Amino acid sequence: MSVFYRKMIPRLKPAINAAELLAALRPDGLDEIRLFEEDFAQLMGQKHAVAFPYGRTGLIYLLTALGLKGKEIICPAYTCVVVPHAIVYSGSTPVFIDCAPDGFNMDLDLAGKSITGNTGAIVATSIFGYPVDLDRIKAIQEKHPQIKIIQDCAHSFAAEWKGRPVQKQGEAAIFGLNISKLLTSIFGGMVTTDSDKLYHDLKQLRDRHLTVSDWKKTLRRLLYFLSLYPTFWEPLYGLVNRLERSGILNHFTQYYDDAKIDMPDDYRLQMSSLEAKIGRCNIHKYRKILAARRVAAKIYFTGLPNLPEFQLPPEIDGATYSHFVVQVPDRKQWMEYGLKKGIQLGQLIEYNIPEMESYGSHPRGSYPLSAKYSRSTINLPVYGGEEVAKSVVRIVKKHIQ
Ligand SMILES: Cc1ncc(COP(=O)(O)O)c(C=O)c1O
Repeated sequence: MSVFYRKMIPRLKPAINAAELLAALRPDGLDEIRLFEEDFAQLMGQKHAVAFPYGRTGLIYLLTALGLKGKEIICPAYTCVVVPHAIVYSGSTPVFIDCAPDGFNMDLDLAGKSITGNTGAIVATSIFGYPVDLDRIKAIQEKHPQIKIIQDCAHSFAAEWKGRPVQKQGEAAIFGLNISKLLTSIFGGMVTTDSDKLYHDLKQLRDRHLTVSDWKKTLRRLLYFLSLYPTFWEPLYGLVNRLERSGILNHFTQYYDDAKIDMPDDYRLQMSSLEAKIGRCNIHKYRKILAARRVAAKIYFTGLPNLPEFQLPPEIDGATYSHFVVQVPDRKQWMEYGLKKGIQLGQLIEYNIPEMESYGSHPRGSYPLSAKYSRSTINLPVYGGEEVAKSVVRIVKKHIQ
């Protein structure tokens, strides 16, 4: 009985409810994807948005539209591994840079020093919702005007650096829209830009190279979407967690293979109108979603001790806290403890990309911080505002004392 009904706070929870269900089930209008793109561009304060089946597909075609084939693309060593995969798929080579000493984002001074005659772009990622330092980006742009800046906002959405939105500084920004992101269309990605030319080139490439979504994709996405309701229902989450740990759900949750540079089978099958309808509905909740995360982060910063054995992340104005990441020496023990007490603690980016088998042949630099974070970080549930955060603080503090 307890296996099925054990109440558990999940590590993540998409903001979907009856509104998204109704949106998904209503008949398609004339141009759902275009409407989603328009709403998304407006939310991000940008002129254009182009929808893709995944954020990584958007990055592949963005690099192509920018004419960067055969170039070196600078990107973080500590990021989602699908980013360098997309760089490789676009015909370019990733050049990895370690994290800056003061946070999880890439060291932009090191990135600037790594620019060569063959560098085409820098993928500047606001990891975990921490805004990239736009002053440093600007300095790079001034010194190397030929280098394209691509903002990776998959974790940050509208994060701000000293009041300036990160997505607007550079040629374009990419976004991921899967269920672990601040906004979701279940799967999906977006590229935003203020450039008319880039927008037209990108759209043309997408429409030429991607297949229009079919009923089979729509059905697969609908079934996946419907399965999320019981999955994230707290009384059942204990069971979901057990299945996840047993490996039975690997097919759904394992998104990379250490030894392979690959893409999902459907990475060139366009976004379905079902996803666009859900995404459009979710956009209306963005302010609330963000507010809940900032409230939870505040409660963690004020309620939890900052210790060498439980090191809190930086508190930065303008961060969107897609994840609240703490460093601990014994991650496994913390995760076990959380489970016993009814909280699922997450681990994300549990790899240092240059150490992965798939990137073993790439020229190696030194990545001590990326290696350290890949082994020591856990993340606390941050989606549930005050209520969830207060329960987590209570439980976590008991384990520290
Ligand atoms: C930092 C970062 N960039 C890009 C992406 C790509 O998004 P997608 O999974 O939609 O391809 C992700 C995905 O999780 C990510 O975490």
